[in-house]
Amino acid sequence: MPERINVNGALASPESAAISPLDRGFLFGDSVYETLRTYGGRIFLQREHLDRLWRSAEQLGIPYESAPVDVEREIGRTIVDAALPEAAVRVVVSRGPGPIGYDPQGCGPPTVVIYARPCPKIPEAWVREGVDVAIVQVTRNARSALDPAIKSSNLLNNFLAWREARRLGAYEPILLNERDGLTEGASSNVFVVRSNRLLTPGAEEGLLEGITRGLVIDLARRDGVETSEEALRADDLRGADEVFLTSTLKGVLPVRRCDGWPIQHGRPGPITRRVMALFEDRIQAEMKAGSAPGSILR
Ligand code: PDD
Repeated sequence: MPERINVNGALASPESAAISPLDRGFLFGDSVYETLRTYGGRIFLQREHLDRLWRSAEQLGIPYESAPVDVEREIGRTIVDAALPEAAVRVVVSRGPGPIGYDPQGCGPPTVVIYARPCPKIPEAWVREGVDVAIVQVTRNARSALDPAIKSSNLLNNFLAWREARRLGAYEPILLNERDGLTEGASSNVFVVRSNRLLTPGAEEGLLEGITRGLVIDLARRDGVETSEEALRADDLRGADEVFLTSTLKGVLPVRRCDGWPIQHGRPGPITRRVMALFEDRIQAEMKAGSAPGSILR
């Protein structure tokens, strides 16, 4: 049973699972989510993902503590039921069904949807050679409007950017903020290497502080790579020595071209390759560590 959906504790196939059309997640995008990944049947960085899920819910005032099920337990149950060693797991918590109108009075309880599917494979060639990105016209949501740090299921900003990138023939868009600062990709964070320093935009630029991003910063620093979170501009990306993306489903993915122009020699550079190796080692260590799921970010 490779694809399983769990709605409020009831396991079903994707075709037969259902939520109410009056669910606020469906009507308003009034829900939060996480994408987790398993390696060898173990959830990678589960604690960090769940902490961020609850932080996102708190920021929107979704009363997750009144969810009808224990989310952590249901994630485990869904993964076991799907019997997938390499799963992508989307966990959605919405405000739940209620009367149409913004007033959340009378809404709920929260709806919990967990969807486990085979993890999409990243083609070998992308890992070896890198992918193309494009800096797009669609700007990232302003923090004062809809803070990108909240991992909400309202993903239209990301989708419009993604669509523009595809029109430009690129795999991932890179979004700027309204001050022309680099932020992130549609579903990834971005790193650049300049003069042997590893740089990534800071949270104040308006972005999701990815779990993979956090791990990469930690691994690079421990390895002695000078790493900094700071404001960057489009030219820092175009003129970088190396560029890579990070996300739960992409891992650490090199970038070979930006806006059609090669990044340096158009091949993953030494710091990118080093970070990829450190990341891979961490996954292997986690898989070997055995049963206890939980934090490995230390
Ligand atoms: N996306 N930025 C955005 C806008 C994202 O949607 C994601 C993740 C990231 C990377 O975060 P992390 O390392 O925690 O996965 C950055 C997930 C994979 C998704 O949308 O399915």
